[in-house]
Amino acid sequence: MCGIVGIVSNQPVSNRLVEGLTRLEYRGYDSAGIAVVNGQGIVRRRSPGKIINLQHVLDDAPIEGTCGIAHTRWATHGKPNMENAHPHQAGNVAIVHNGIIENFKILREELAREGHVFATQTDSEVIAHLIQHHLDKGMDEESAFLACFERLEGAYAVAALVGKDNQTLYAARHGSPLVVGFGTGEMFVGSDAFALAPFTKRVLYLEEGDSAVVKIDDVCVRDKSGQVVTREILTASISAVMAEKGNYRHFMEKEIHEQPEALARTMAAYMDQETDLPSLGNAAPLLKNADRLVAIACGTAYLAASVGKYWFEGLAGVHVETDIASEFRYRTPALPQNGTALFISQSGETADTLAAMRYCNRANLGTIGVLNAPESSIARETNAVMRTLAGPEIGVASTKAFTAQLAVLAMSAIGTAQLRGHMSEDEARTHVKALEQLPELAQKALTVKDQCEAIAPILAGAKQTFFIGRGVYYPLALEGALKLKEVTYLPAEGYAAGELKHGPIALIEDGTPVVVIAPSDKLLEKTISSVEEVAARGAKIIAITDEAGAEQFKDRTEHIIVLPDMPGLCGPIISAIPLQLLAYYTAHKLGTNMDQPRNLAKSVTVE
Ligand code: F6R
Repeated sequence: MCGIVGIVSNQPVSNRLVEGLTRLEYRGYDSAGIAVVNGQGIVRRRSPGKIINLQHVLDDAPIEGTCGIAHTRWATHGKPNMENAHPHQAGNVAIVHNGIIENFKILREELAREGHVFATQTDSEVIAHLIQHHLDKGMDEESAFLACFERLEGAYAVAALVGKDNQTLYAARHGSPLVVGFGTGEMFVGSDAFALAPFTKRVLYLEEGDSAVVKIDDVCVRDKSGQVVTREILTASISAVMAEKGNYRHFMEKEIHEQPEALARTMAAYMDQETDLPSLGNAAPLLKNADRLVAIACGTAYLAASVGKYWFEGLAGVHVETDIASEFRYRTPALPQNGTALFISQSGETADTLAAMRYCNRANLGTIGVLNAPESSIARETNAVMRTLAGPEIGVASTKAFTAQLAVLAMSAIGTAQLRGHMSEDEARTHVKALEQLPELAQKALTVKDQCEAIAPILAGAKQTFFIGRGVYYPLALEGALKLKEVTYLPAEGYAAGELKHGPIALIEDGTPVVVIAPSDKLLEKTISSVEEVAARGAKIIAITDEAGAEQFKDRTEHIIVLPDMPGLCGPIISAIPLQLLAYYTAHKLGTNMDQPRNLAKSVTVE
């Protein structure tokens, strides 16, 4: 959360700072600001709300300089107002920060006693005051910057302007990502390589505890012990162009429609062309030999893990525990001696998932990241990476990343079953053949979009909506509810269909929409019984099913979204599409900003 950009150049930097910031808006949009050093020292412009507001401020009162930092905020400490917008300044120091400084209150009190006056309610401002405090004590700029981190507890990525020097940017990371970009006659820092994509693809990833002194044509990186170190310069794979909306109105709409391609790319990466069996790369031995699997993630990625549990247990007979990362890391989990942990994450930067991964690394589990961002922190620290090839996902709501995660988990479950001798090669091939149809099935599933648009007003006008499913469609019900909540701000609940009668059925009133995800499988009959129970109490049923399932629903509701027949493990993957479309069109009807819903950020790099 929060995006950081910094540029040191021999050209003016303001416009490009804002351009880089725009590409980080997915990380937060509570306020934005920039600071540059010029002949007058540090000058800042800030604004509450989105980057467009900052742009208006800059249009009215431009600032120029050849060295600057910029920030887009997702508020943690202090209201999302102008006063709390970054960069924060103390004397000749300006900083931008992503993360949380846990001991900021103590530090603030100490510094206040020495005469420092604080202008914000943020935890971050203390960083600027600490650096200035060290300058006041006579330290040079670099020492003052470095000394500050000896006192900070918590997580941070920081970029700073220190003193009157307009030739140097200072940067440091601990717990939050930061990259250094190499241009020609200029250098950059950014929260991710994507922010720097318009300027350079040559990047260096700072590692935990690293600090960097960035000059126009050079960078000096030190590790946490203060030793100068060399970090490899890589070519980032993200193309600037992939993040445009094209002909779509919203990124969410575009990304829903990109699923056929995303699934095709992802499937191709896991198919052994010679044997037609899953090819799991260096994850294969970790999956084959583990006594038990642990699958850890947050939000939608956790729901992908939950679907994966049904597949791994059902096909490979391997016990899988699923855990929400924020719960896992603090509950002293009993971990298997010879276990493998899977971390599922679009961004690969989610703070809780990253911390859970480090916990498992320390506990000597094999670790596998199922990740969309190949250069992310989790990718760099797990034993094996299984990429989801969904391409950059900009809309805050996970759509194509979710179905790509499911495709990877499906191939992994089949591959694991076969490697462990739980499934014959022929059976495995049949499963893979079914999954190969995913791109085509996704394309067909997208044709229900007009129907979803027509149903959206029912959801938009409802006090609350229920989503129900059984078996592998239960996590899909949770996902349908999560998607609707986050982009429309309407109350929605997901339940296991069989669980309704144990309490939640009390909430069903005349006209309450109940979205039932029930393609034909061995549990369809059971789900229909739950449907009868809610229909008898006045619920308006919206069924997501296939041709055979539609037969069962036709006397029970007029709202039947019919998907193509979905063989093998395709069902939950394809069923996600109408759920996404329902959420998208309901948000559209209500006029919410579904690409950047309130209070949310794409990459949650704080606890
Ligand atoms: C919901 C959504 C979030 C993310 C969650 C994990 O649509 O996008 O629930 O799934 O924040 O993020 P990653 O996958 O980046 O770890």
